[in-house]
Amino acid sequence: MPAENPSPIRVCFVCLGNICRSPTAEAVFTKLVTERGHAARFTIDSAGTGDWHVGELADPRSRAAALKRGVHITSRARQVHVRDFDAFDYLLAMDRSNEANLRRLAPHDPGRARVHLFRSFEAGAPDGAEVPDPYYGGDDGFEEVLDICQRAAEGFLDHVLRQRG
Ligand code: 4NP
Repeated sequence: MPAENPSPIRVCFVCLGNICRSPTAEAVFTKLVTERGHAARFTIDSAGTGDWHVGELADPRSRAAALKRGVHITSRARQVHVRDFDAFDYLLAMDRSNEANLRRLAPHDPGRARVHLFRSFEAGAPDGAEVPDPYYGGDDGFEEVLDICQRAAEGFLDHVLRQRG
């Protein structure tokens, strides 16, 4: 029989600035696990490898596009810290550059093994698929990020539930 309060599954989504992609992934995944009745099992956060936007709310374009889908992005940007490699079970990188930077920052091998490309969990996504950075593009890019995050979040939740029951 499973324990009453199994340890939480700790997930941190990571991009470059922590104002577009990873806050979107965080909010989409939070909504998904809430809708599926699994919210209490998860600790969910996001961070950026860069420090330019620390303390800021997410990009208004990300927040507006998400809100149209009922996704509330409320996080403030923070930079990845070495303690995150102990504080989280999964560090989910939005692109291969974020992934490489996380692997380089990891203070130990178990922490390095917690780094994955977010889209590696998306059903049917090709190897190495990335969440494209929408920051310098038009509104379409923010919609695409939401679509991708939804698919990858569903694949990731399926994966975790298969692993952890
Ligand atoms: P994000 O997008 O990594 O998805 O948050 C970016 C946000 C800001 C910058 C780059 C990417 N920037 O260079 O300031």
